[in-house]
Amino acid sequence: MSHFDTLAARSDAHVMRSYGAPKGAFVRGQGTALFDGEGTAWLDFLCGLAVTSLGHAHPAVTEAVARQAATLVHTSNLYLSEPAVELAERLARITGWDDATTFFAQCGATANEAAIKLARKHGKRTADDKVRVVTLAGSFHGRTLATLEATGQPAKHGPFQPLAGFVDTVSHDDPAALRAAVTERTCAVLLEVVQGEGGVRPLAPEVLAAARDACDAHGALLIVDEVQTGVGRTGPWFAFQDTAIQPDVITVAKALANGMPIGACIARGEAAKVFEPGDHATTFGGNPVTCAAANAVIDTIEREGLLRTAAARATRLREGLHDLVERHELAIGVRGRGLLLGLELGDDRAAAIEAACRERYLLVNAVGSDVVRLAPPLTVERHEIDLALAALDDALTQVGA
Ligand SMILES: Cc1ncc(COP(=O)(O)O)c(C=O)c1O
Repeated sequence: MSHFDTLAARSDAHVMRSYGAPKGAFVRGQGTALFDGEGTAWLDFLCGLAVTSLGHAHPAVTEAVARQAATLVHTSNLYLSEPAVELAERLARITGWDDATTFFAQCGATANEAAIKLARKHGKRTADDKVRVVTLAGSFHGRTLATLEATGQPAKHGPFQPLAGFVDTVSHDDPAALRAAVTERTCAVLLEVVQGEGGVRPLAPEVLAAARDACDAHGALLIVDEVQTGVGRTGPWFAFQDTAIQPDVITVAKALANGMPIGACIARGEAAKVFEPGDHATTFGGNPVTCAAANAVIDTIEREGLLRTAAARATRLREGLHDLVERHELAIGVRGRGLLLGLELGDDRAAAIEAACRERYLLVNAVGSDVVRLAPPLTVERHEIDLALAALDDALTQVGA
């Protein structure tokens, strides 16, 4: 039996089956490569779902984690630690918000939970029933009960009904409907600038403008979920920085610590001062090891000029994908921003393309039935992009035949 088969059988016996059938097992990573139990190298154009943006085993992150783990791992939020305070300072700098404050969470969902609680408290200052949140169809905000409800994908709600009923979901491409949905009872609009899990779908500038205007008109907070788009994934530090809007709150997770579990809810202005002692807490928030990793990520991106490099790589990848669209009937378009790209298919064969890429040792994934997501590390090399495009070319030929 292969390493994967052995591990899959053991997992099947004792790990809860909330995920689909496993698609592989890896024992080591280096840069854009992942190595399986047989020593085969795979090209990782998914980054553990847009997480390992500096590639696997980046020496700066490894060193920061090892040093901090050998120094101090945990004290709780009863006490301060240097890495968390430093990270909050860095986040204020890269958001461009001098007055930013951060609540540290563990992941994207818990960062969004914090943001929703913050918005509720902010709304309640005006009226007791100002607690509703407007979200967009196709969005993804997490799997906890509140973030699940905020996720505009009803299929995921199914077995967990009834949900709390505080969310109003409107179309992702209808500014008028969005304006109409925001009322005096709305405490927040929550959206992604590029819907990741919803099919790598950038929102139109008019939708973003409508969200900002409606929030201003009704005293609601605009929360931008940067969990997938943040930390350089779509080009700038945060996707909102390429738009005309300024959110009140952003949430960040995934790539922030290159694979160490972290989440951050970052607020500016009035929103930065909403939480008071006792309002929100979590034992592991601001953990020194994960924060040290995140500080190393930010420093590395700055030191190595990775936002610039990634923009050049993104152009090459996008052009290569457009070339595939020209040559394959099955591929009909390219969407996304920076290194968060989706190859649109003319029908629902995205899972087949994902599988055909796996046969060629390339990791990408289907988001929805007709979009294949590519999210390579910001450090991806030109020749790795060419290899991935060649594998995708073959996969399209095979599946499209
Ligand atoms: C935009 C967005 N928000 C929130 C989440 C939830 O993050 P996590 O899985 O870390 O809880 C995700 C995860 O894919 C996401 O893409």
